[in-house]
Order: sequence, then structure tokens, then C-alpha cells
Amino acid sequence: MSARIAVVPGSFDPPTLGHLDVIRRAAALYDELHVLVVHNPDKQAMLPVAQRLTLLDESIAEAGVAGKVIVGSWSMGLLVDYARDVNAGVLVKGIRSQVDVAYESPMAIVNRHLADIETVFLLPDPAHALVSSSLVRQVAALGGDVTPFVPPAVARFLDTGARGL
Ligand code: PNS
Repeated sequence: MSARIAVVPGSFDPPTLGHLDVIRRAAALYDELHVLVVHNPDKQAMLPVAQRLTLLDESIAEAGVAGKVIVGSWSMGLLVDYARDVNAGVLVKGIRSQVDVAYESPMAIVNRHLADIETVFLLPDPAHALVSSSLVRQVAALGGDVTPFVPPAVARFLDTGARGL
């Protein structure tokens, strides 16, 4: 597995400015970046996976990092199986706080046991430290303005298309 190929997994429901910041930073570090929408059975989804993929594609294009980024989805098993399939040697996660460290560390250790794959934690810009998809979902559902928290493509979609979701 190549240390130059990385996977950025997540629910991305919806993608936030924090996600885009981590994707931009990871794209600067690796030769090939797979941004992967993973179905998380523990979470009640707002958007269908296909919609999340479209929003990620648009947001990544708008952010100007589309060149080496591949957007995909995975619901067929372990995340490390996808990483093996694409020869990725690294998983990248954004860390906003100690809460994220506590949540991500056991997964990083399990993934290393499963497939000898490293997890790299990146710190987003502090401006995005308090942004989460769950808060964006709540603000959008209650009719609030999510523009400060999400990429323009996501703001446009939530403003015009998702009120009924
Ligand atoms: O954005 P999220 O919801 O915090 O992302 C969590 C995600 C999808 C990255 C996490 O649930 C995950 O890695 N799922 C893959 C399932 C898996 O491989 N589990 C075993 C090792 S932890």
C-alpha cells in the first residue's frame, strides 16, 4: 500500500467548510486523495449518499483541488478493504477537539491492527473548529442560514432543494 495515496472517509452529511479545509490540506500532502462517503449505520442520515457525492464533487471543484481528488462511496464492509482496493496506505481524519481525539483514536488503532494502515490527524483552521454536520443539519431543518458553515454548493442546495428533507 502506498504512503502517497490517502483516503479521507466520513459521513459528509452534509459536507462542511471544516471537511473542505481538511480535504484541501490533505490534497497538498498526498499524490492521490480518495474522499469517501461511508454509510454509517449508527447515524440517521439527512441526505442520500448520491446527493452527498454530488455536493462533494461540486464543493471540491469550487475549492480548486479537484485535480488529484477522487470522490467515491463505500458501504460494502470495512473501510480498510476500500483502502486496500485503491492501494492507499493512509487514512486522514480532521481533529477539532479532544472529543474527536477520543472518538478517532480507537478506530485508528483498530484499522492499524486490521490492515497495517496509518491514520494521520490534521488540524483544521480554528475558524472551523466548532462546525459539525449535525449542527448544520439542525440549523437547516429549522430554517436557519447555514452559509457561514458550508461550502457555497452545499449552501445553495440546502437553501433551494433540501427544505423538505
Ligand atoms: O463523519 P463520520 O460519521 O464521523 O465518519 C465516521 C466513519 C465513516 C469514518 C467511521 O464510521 C468508519 O470508519 N466507518 C467504517 C467502518 C469500519 O471500517 N469499521 C471498523 C474499523 S473502525
